[in-house]
Amino acid sequence: TTPLKTLASRVGKYFGCEIGQEALSDTQLTALTAAQCSVTTPENEMKWDATEPSQGVFTFTAGDAIVSFAAANGISVRGHNLVWGSQLPSWVTNTAWTNATLIAAMTNHITNVVTHYKGKVIHWDVVNEPFNGDGSYASDVFYNTIGSEYIPIALKAARAADPNVKLFINDYNLDYSSAKLTAMVNLVKSLHARGIPIDGIGSESHLIVGNVSPSGYASTIAQMAGAFPGALVAITELDLRMPTPASAANLAQQETDYYSVVSACVQYSACIGVETWGISDKYSWISSTFSGYGAALPYDANFNPKSAVTGIVNGF
Ligand code: XIL
Repeated sequence: TTPLKTLASRVGKYFGCEIGQEALSDTQLTALTAAQCSVTTPENEMKWDATEPSQGVFTFTAGDAIVSFAAANGISVRGHNLVWGSQLPSWVTNTAWTNATLIAAMTNHITNVVTHYKGKVIHWDVVNEPFNGDGSYASDVFYNTIGSEYIPIALKAARAADPNVKLFINDYNLDYSSAKLTAMVNLVKSLHARGIPIDGIGSESHLIVGNVSPSGYASTIAQMAGAFPGALVAITELDLRMPTPASAANLAQQETDYYSVVSACVQYSACIGVETWGISDKYSWISSTFSGYGAALPYDANFNPKSAVTGIVNGF
């Protein structure tokens, strides 16, 4: 059967799947990833706690291992992520920052990480999950210390370190019309109007089986694409969870929902690709984060395709 990445590229998109350090040593998982995916994202290995565990001390070993795997298999890498209120080392959360000292520490982090991966990643999620559900800014050390200007400062630092990488702001619950989606679109619109470097919006798309409205999901892509002419939309972390054990009805619905998301992306030239957060149910963050849920990815825990794969195939 034709690989998902090939079907995607025939319609001008990519199909990607995230990989983590643990999965990298599973040869069945790496073979499936290499066969199906032309883009990958390190699950945790480029986050701040992984890359700068002590101030000014940078550790790239784990991220580099994923970049090497990707390069050996012709896979492009999305860098994830530079500035986020989660998965921070304690020195970031515990220091009594001033506006100036945190801007300096954040800029130094971005400069070092982006410079290290210059030419090796195609995208950066520069800012991750900046919004609350009501569209207000998330209360994290960056917003609380610097205010919302931390976002343009971060984007400019990333652009200065790599003039060619595409810069994204990435968030979840952008998959239906909401105050949060409006806030994201308005932010990107205003950044672009100010001449701040920004290429697009990442829509994570951590979804629940049976909750996807095909027209509603497509409309969110249109809204994000409308932030400015040329704005990109990337589906960055797609998974479709269901209560476990998985029922036949939910597995069938999952095929429909994967189809809805992929076919919505295909409808818009601004939507550049679809990436799932893992590829096999053997390696997924869902069951440890959403109690009683799982089976969210296209391949099962034995690396066999679920009907979800048919949904993706038909969507492309
Ligand atoms: C998750 C990872 O999958 C887990 O291993 C980790 O414990 C927590 O983070 N949004 C994001 C991702 O942007 O970085 C998150 O990844 C999932 C939600």
